[in-house]
Amino acid sequence: MLITPHTNKLNRIVILNPKGGCGKTTLATNLASYYSLEGPMPTVMDCDPQASTMNWLDRRDASRPPIHGIAAYKKTMQATRSWQLRVPNETTNLIVDSPASLNHDDLREFTRDATSILVPVLPSAIDIHAASRCIADLLLVAKIDRRENRLAVVANRTRRNTKSFEKLMRFLDALGIPIIAVLRDSQNYVRAAEQGIGIVEMQPHKVRKDREELEKIITWLDTLPMDRRELLNPSPAAPPSNVTLLHKPQFNAG
Ligand SMILES: Nc1ncnc2c1ncn2[C@@H]1O[C@H](COP(=O)(O)OP(=O)(O)OP(=O)(O)O)[C@@H](O)[C@H]1O
Ligand SMILES: [Mg+2]
Repeated sequence: MLITPHTNKLNRIVILNPKGGCGKTTLATNLASYYSLEGPMPTVMDCDPQASTMNWLDRRDASRPPIHGIAAYKKTMQATRSWQLRVPNETTNLIVDSPASLNHDDLREFTRDATSILVPVLPSAIDIHAASRCIADLLLVAKIDRRENRLAVVANRTRRNTKSFEKLMRFLDALGIPIIAVLRDSQNYVRAAEQGIGIVEMQPHKVRKDREELEKIITWLDTLPMDRRELLNPSPAAPPSNVTLLHKPQFNAG
């Protein structure tokens, strides 16, 4: 399904978690918005028949920096292959929004060519349970090797210092999966979604905190997988001056 041009410059960012409503589309649209401001024009591939990302793009004003959209859910398997070759040449960041409920074959297809796999997780008990299955499937079914540093979690709608958040942190710590950002529960995301924009396109003073977290995700995505461990666990002797320590102080790969 996800056959895209094999050029070195194409960063394939797959957002995935079969649990409905965990923030996949929110993350996909906000990353697309961020990369659109930065340029070159990003592409979003919407693989969800609900078409939330395509609808968001339809709401986007033509005066905004452009984002190319591919309604991949519309295509049959065979047509999808050629369609997906139509990622514009200038695109360096392809963001894939996936549907809720994925079978094992889908999981393998979605992750096979991915440069980065982001799993948004809500901190409720039910969501943590679903996320643990999703991550187990990614490791065991899709055979994602943690040492490749392609997989990360984004905690969404989270209030820190809650028991459920601590539980999520402990769970991921045990698996050696980093939480690269913690997005707060904020109407900013809801308002941005309504207008076909991302939070970085809203008034800066209203979104300062949200932007900081989004930039942590961008930093991780823009870092080559082999250098990501450094980003998450910089050596105490020589901390890189241009990199902020992300949320998880320990990263035990392997
Ligand atoms: N951090 C947040 N703060 C407030 N609202 C949020 C946040 N993240 C997501 N939402 C809202 O929660 C709802 C579900 O989010 P979203 O559509 O991104 O989830 P999804 O994983 O794509 O869902 P689906 O599985 O149905 O595709 C949306 O109304 C969205 O605006
Ligand atoms: Mg969605």
